[in-house]
Amino acid sequence: MSEITIKVDGKILSSVYSGQSVVEVAQYLKPYRSVYMVYDLNVKGVADLIEPALKANGNYEGSLGIVATEENKVIDTVLSIDEWLLNLGANRDAMVLAVGGGITTDMVGFAASIYKRGVKFSFVPTTLLSQVDAAIGGKTGVNFSSLKNMLGVIRQPEFTYECPEVLQTLPYRDFVSGTAELVKTFIIENTSDDNYSKAVSVLSRIAASENKAEAIKANTAELLGLISAAAAVKAGVVSRDQFESGERKNLNLGHTFAHAIEWEARRTGTDIAHGEAVSIGMILAARLSENLSIAPAGFADKLLADFKQCGLPTELPFAMDSLPSAMEKDKKAEGGKVHFVLMGGVGDVRIQSMTVSEAMASLK
Ligand code: GLY
Repeated sequence: MSEITIKVDGKILSSVYSGQSVVEVAQYLKPYRSVYMVYDLNVKGVADLIEPALKANGNYEGSLGIVATEENKVIDTVLSIDEWLLNLGANRDAMVLAVGGGITTDMVGFAASIYKRGVKFSFVPTTLLSQVDAAIGGKTGVNFSSLKNMLGVIRQPEFTYECPEVLQTLPYRDFVSGTAELVKTFIIENTSDDNYSKAVSVLSRIAASENKAEAIKANTAELLGLISAAAAVKAGVVSRDQFESGERKNLNLGHTFAHAIEWEARRTGTDIAHGEAVSIGMILAARLSENLSIAPAGFADKLLADFKQCGLPTELPFAMDSLPSAMEKDKKAEGGKVHFVLMGGVGDVRIQSMTVSEAMASLK
């Protein structure tokens, strides 16, 4: 059992616990007066595993299954969660547990944050992507007006509980999509342990295996070490800059392009997962970094070769000129300029503000 914390001014705002079995989350929910569980219907099996242990705590009030799709990540879904809490008589001492991937944790965190001006919440992330990124750091919210995460607040979960059990059953495509955020974390901060190279090596091994599920199982211990290391990096960044006035912006590496790719994918009905878009976005950011002489020559090709080995997508599925209009809509655009996270190398990132047309011209 390891514990990672988000600490601001010496005060613990949120903890990341991990354990071998998902049922163990119940022990962390014992201290609360009343516990409500909201889960993604796709992972009802996980919720069913947890529920008896919650009932045994004696403070469990009930559960609600939601459809956790990008299309359903809207304010109406959040309001339906709040309506459910209201109908069950949830008070200000409620603790709402979310079980699911990043869409679920974002929506439930938001619903809890606005219910009666804010009640406590906690997460059991069930995808790799949410374990290393979405369920840590307190970003909650929904899409609005065709734009991702346009409405929301930053408010920390009481805790995030991560466990290997859920990883072993992930479809391989979801697993790979999650690895994009894992690798991203180590490109942002790569300590002397060189977790970036360790991640590339484990993920390449899994990608080269015929039986992916078996390979993931066989590498669980190493993956868990990397997931914890990534969670610790993220918790450190959030502790230093909870409200994204500086360093936290680095976590958006690849995301300016990724959000535009996802926007274009929705418009054209193309199937692309968030992590896949982030992977392609990081390659574009690497090319931009190299063309602006921030990264050394050959850096983008090296990253591309690593990503390919890991089974991550690297090619833009649309024409390049479809991206600018989507990028200009990015909520991070300020005064016509967009904050691009660029790379000097692995473990060395920096923000550069430029207009979308400047970035596109440098990518040619
Ligand atoms: N996903 C980026 C962040 O949490 O800041």
